[in-house]
Amino acid sequence: MEENKNLYSAVQPTNSLTIGNYLGAVKNFVALQNDYNCFYAIANMHAITVRQNPAELRRRTLELAALYIACGIDPEKCVLYVQSHVPAHAELCWVLNTFTYVGEMERMTQFKDKSRKHADNINMGLMDYPVLMAADILLYQTAYVPVGKDQTQHVEIARDIAQRFNNAYSPTFTVPECVYVKAGAKICDLLDPSKKMSKSAENANGSIFLSDDKDTVIRKFKRAVTDSEAVIKFDPENKPGVSNLLSIYSVFTDKSMAEAEADFAGKGYGDFKLAVGEAVADKLAPIQCEQARLLADKAYLDGVLKSGAERAAFTANKTLSKVYKKIGFYQN
Ligand code: TRP
Repeated sequence: MEENKNLYSAVQPTNSLTIGNYLGAVKNFVALQNDYNCFYAIANMHAITVRQNPAELRRRTLELAALYIACGIDPEKCVLYVQSHVPAHAELCWVLNTFTYVGEMERMTQFKDKSRKHADNINMGLMDYPVLMAADILLYQTAYVPVGKDQTQHVEIARDIAQRFNNAYSPTFTVPECVYVKAGAKICDLLDPSKKMSKSAENANGSIFLSDDKDTVIRKFKRAVTDSEAVIKFDPENKPGVSNLLSIYSVFTDKSMAEAEADFAGKGYGDFKLAVGEAVADKLAPIQCEQARLLADKAYLDGVLKSGAERAAFTANKTLSKVYKKIGFYQN
């Protein structure tokens, strides 16, 4: 990755983030902020593609802003903003819709999954989700998009749309690249270690949320699925549950896998689960404390988001204006 290029990512203000989201996304956003021009959005326009409770959506938007900052995102270095505060997203999305085929949207994996999950509400927005995401990315002349594996197909489409537009007119958009952020480890569901830990899992006891207090964290780890062997070693094939706990322990304590295993040589699963729970809870506590402090200072958060939206709009409108010119929209 070349330094000083634009980098874009976003998180939806739905559900609480899990420790998997933290390791896979937000923690890396922090690491990237020194080397790139980072734009980090709160994707509330994507969030409404499935029904949201309005009061909750509003609350979660502010909570996510506070969380980003509590995790170490510096709003002076990065552009931190709420997607709906920058109208250019909806505007570019409309134009890009005319460069996107219905067939390719129908084939998107996430659209098919979500259509199954929300069969009573397969709305146009759900189908248009990838185009809005392309608009997000392309507005900022983004070179790099750090996302999890589940979003790769969406970044691919953004590349296709960018190339299609550039070929039809002349170079207008930077063609973005997906960057895989190493989570340090793949974090799996505590109750079903064959599945990735998800913020929308059916059973919330399998996921550790960044908002979980210490008692909750420890209770969830106590119930985590292991095996009947009573040996603590990293062997994801044969011991998925124990290996997942070891991974979590190693990333939360910054220890290597060998050190993590050594910490539990000869110990029982009870002590092991408790130690993993404590390591996680101890890391979450200062983030939660800082998030609460920020949420109590609404004026500060509002100021950050206002300035973020202004800076985002400045870059976004430059791209939008180029697009409007190329497609023949009369501008005066
Ligand atoms: N769809 C992404 C997710 O759910 C969030 C998102 C919206 C995004 N716009 C984006 C991610 C642009 C990267 C770039 O994780």
